[in-house]
Amino acid sequence: MTRGKTWLACVAAAVTTLLVAAPAHAQGYPTKPITLVVPFAAGGPTDVVARLLGGTMTRTLGQTVVVENRVGAGGTIAAASVARAAPDGYTFLIHHNGMGTAPSLYRKLSYNPLADFEYVTQVVDVPMTLVGRKDLPAKDFNELLAYLKANGTKVNLAHAGLGAVSHLCGMLFRQAVGTEMTTVPYQGTGPALNALLAGQVDLLCDQTTGTAPHIKAGTVKLYGVTTTSRLKLLPEAPTLAEQGLPGFQVVVWHGIYAPRGTPKEVVDRFGNAVRGALKDAAVLARLTELGAVVAADDKLTPTGLQTWLQQETQRYGPVIKAAGQFAD
Ligand code: MLT
Repeated sequence: MTRGKTWLACVAAAVTTLLVAAPAHAQGYPTKPITLVVPFAAGGPTDVVARLLGGTMTRTLGQTVVVENRVGAGGTIAAASVARAAPDGYTFLIHHNGMGTAPSLYRKLSYNPLADFEYVTQVVDVPMTLVGRKDLPAKDFNELLAYLKANGTKVNLAHAGLGAVSHLCGMLFRQAVGTEMTTVPYQGTGPALNALLAGQVDLLCDQTTGTAPHIKAGTVKLYGVTTTSRLKLLPEAPTLAEQGLPGFQVVVWHGIYAPRGTPKEVVDRFGNAVRGALKDAAVLARLTELGAVVAADDKLTPTGLQTWLQQETQRYGPVIKAAGQFAD
């Protein structure tokens, strides 16, 4: 090869490398399947929302949105992996309140939720329910309190790990009623709910996206909802607040994140596809059946998510630190 040809070959190789490594830009994006990482097990509330969105987004984006469950450590394994992923528009994370609680719960967190991501959009808000196995002897909330007092640590409360909202809700409930229980961790509330249905555990605090069909079918006992007023979806169900736990409130919010450095046009394109899916009639109908409410318009933006996450991180930080409840 002559010297000129060698130089040309080097330039061509460099250009090819640049093209391969270059981040995706909105024009032409996406050209291959996109991974949406879910930090909890398949079949659980986060997974249900991700798959519902993913199906519609696959049609609008023209590429498959592949939902991948990366479970463990209360959602922090998934978040860490997305923080480290290539910022090329092909990896996103859907996560909930756990993004705000993790920095206080985990002293050795390998990522910073407030610095290592691009903020795409919030998604839905979902209330929680305190449910028991179908054959639990307590038929209502008052009987449950008596049952808890009588049985203490013989009562099993399932949850999805430290940092999961089912854990947060369960702990708040335990503190509010002042009785000990044995906690049983699962990799998500999908498997935790299956264990409840199989009678292997007694109680679970889970989102309506997981529990609503079972409450309606009567395959679990409902002891209360975690909002301050009753739900349209379950108007007969009393809130925990009105049954003697004043102020008891846990509502789960969800957001979508990309690795820091993902191009803005790509974040906007993916965000538009999420917002589009949230307006799709079939998606909306299913979300409504499951008790999920689309986040307010001002939260369906990158700034809306980022500002909310900052507020949530500040809100939970002092509470968790004061309680000395660390996960590591
Ligand atoms: C799930 O998707 O399994 C739940 O959101 C986990 C949790 O309780 O945080």
